[in-house]
Amino acid sequence: MTLYDNHNRPLTYVRLAVTDRCNLRCFYCMPAEGIQYLPKRELLTFEEIERTIALLARLGISKVRLTGGEPFVRMDLMRLIRNLVETPGVNDLHITTNGVLTAPHVAELKRLGIASVNLSLDTLNAERFKLITRRAEFGPVMRTLELLLKHDIPTKINAVVMEGKNIEDILPLVELTRQQAVEVRFIEEMPFNGEGSHYPTLHWNYARIHSYLKEHFPDLHKIPDPANATATQYAIPGHKGTVGIIAAFSRTFCGTCNRIRITAQGTLKTCLYDEGVLDIRQLLRSGDSDDVITEKLLQVFRQRPKDGFEAEASRSNHLPAHESMSTIGG
Ligand code: GTP
Ligand code: 5AD
Ligand code: SF4
Repeated sequence: MTLYDNHNRPLTYVRLAVTDRCNLRCFYCMPAEGIQYLPKRELLTFEEIERTIALLARLGISKVRLTGGEPFVRMDLMRLIRNLVETPGVNDLHITTNGVLTAPHVAELKRLGIASVNLSLDTLNAERFKLITRRAEFGPVMRTLELLLKHDIPTKINAVVMEGKNIEDILPLVELTRQQAVEVRFIEEMPFNGEGSHYPTLHWNYARIHSYLKEHFPDLHKIPDPANATATQYAIPGHKGTVGIIAAFSRTFCGTCNRIRITAQGTLKTCLYDEGVLDIRQLLRSGDSDDVITEKLLQVFRQRPKDGFEAEASRSNHLPAHESMSTIGG
């Protein structure tokens, strides 16, 4: 069964932030002092998450991505994962992680049949890693990458491209795809850094990233993108992996948007740019039945904005977005 929204877009994918906490401080996501974290009681419990996902899966939302913050900062995350993979209707479970605490769990993730892991890794250089993330955990992240590849878990590397920060990493990251079956994705920086004061100028947009890649790898060529993919994908002859570019800032995904988001405190967003359209946590805690909650979910799915991105881009005052990616869940 497929669920459609009011603009006839299939809804198949939920991104759920299990925490807003993170053990890194990537400057494009959070200020150095961190953000005001939610008190624990405000987070959805594992039982609440499992119930929510089960209800969504029953409606046809079959792809689940756990995000954060950093998902593995949440205590005993593997317990949640074990239960989610068993949930009827959940066909594929994915996770987006920064890799700092992930390595010890890779073998079990494989055993549980995790569909893919997206690893946030902007640089292959320990010093630059420290400058970008304001933390020194480069070694454990590289260990996670090594284990993901060793266990043949489909892996994508997410690298946000930033002038003055990691331009020298673009080519080494592409080089990784020569011997490894990994997808390296270069991402345009988005204005979600938790600091209203800094609105990044997009020095490296899709076109510039693409022409830089093409200049150094003239054989780079377009390959078909899977449906609803965020990245535009390219291959280089002789490379085992692929390269992608995510025009997160300059392109609108609205026309084919198949995703909804649930923040760490259980707020449902049917668009990256809405402020939250349903307080799922409150529904769960008020003792409503599954049927009542399902009806409320269906109601908001029938009222999805058509083009939140355009609405955001055309706001006359064009104020910077204050939210941190860590709260939204990416
Ligand atoms: P898969 O397609 O399942 O591999 O994952 P994904 O690309 O949706 O997820 P991931 O968490 O790896 O996110 C990669 C980048 O895409 C991050 O910078 C996200 O913030 C960005 N992104 C994800 N969804 C959207 C979206 O709906 N709109 C925009 N503009 N960016 C998005
Ligand atoms: N712009 C683009 N991507 C971002 N991410 C976090 N903050 C931003 C931002 N401001 C990415 C992370 C992670 C994914 C979930 O979102 O690198 O891989
Ligand atoms: Fe943490 Fe990811 Fe934000 Fe970096 S981008 S601070 S790893 S949540």
